[in-house]
Amino acid sequence: MRIGIIQSEPAHLDPKLSCTRLAPQIEACVAEGAEIVVLPELAGSGYLFPNLEALSGLAEPADGSGLFLNWLIQRCKEHDIAIVSGYAEVSQGTLFNSAAFLTPKGVRGNYRKLHLFDTEKELFQPGDAGVPVFEWRGAKFSILICFDWSFPEVWRMAALAGADFVAHCSNLVLPWAQTGVKGHALCNHIGVFTANRIGTESQGDTQVTFTGGSQAITPTADLLASAPRAEIWQGVFEFEPSLARNKQVTGHNHLFEDRRRDMYSL
Ligand code: ACM
Repeated sequence: MRIGIIQSEPAHLDPKLSCTRLAPQIEACVAEGAEIVVLPELAGSGYLFPNLEALSGLAEPADGSGLFLNWLIQRCKEHDIAIVSGYAEVSQGTLFNSAAFLTPKGVRGNYRKLHLFDTEKELFQPGDAGVPVFEWRGAKFSILICFDWSFPEVWRMAALAGADFVAHCSNLVLPWAQTGVKGHALCNHIGVFTANRIGTESQGDTQVTFTGGSQAITPTADLLASAPRAEIWQGVFEFEPSLARNKQVTGHNHLFEDRRRDMYSL
């Protein structure tokens, strides 16, 4: 399985321009044989919204009928690939910070960010649909979004449910995030493909700078690539699902079977 990561700079509040910027990056991943491509969190709209009305105007239903997801589905059809991308979701008037799993056949899955970061709590509702596992060309994966990285519980949930890797759609800002993610790969023996964005956004008194540094990590926590902090970038990596399915650490230690579930609940 060849997995692509795109580190982009979304056009603030302008999904059409974001698509124009993403097109050559997707094509570059396809040229390197990518079968699935991971994009950042909120990759069409950008991250900061002036108010709830502005966010509502940019949010899309999870069925793929909105401008951004529909454009990505067309790219899946054109290149016979899958794409995992963050987007702003509206569902019966409720707004979620979500990521969709898209294929040439349309939307195959959706994840709603469980752990909202900072002022996201003023606009979005926290996810209500757990951590599903999806499958693409023989590999199983879950999706997590940005600040979800801080919660070991969701990584363990994904691994226990059979995920071989996590597609981590991000707009990371905390400087220690990329380091923290490596531990989750190692403690669960899963691959992690973090697609982070670059750039700075301002809205009123708020200014946020995103840290780039997208990375591909193997189930034994080898860092296959670490992107620059402030430049757009893309990379494609070979991933072998069977490596993630071996949870044996020594002859006497298995990551799942050695859990002391009599002492804690996960
Ligand atoms: C974040 O969760 N976007 C930091």
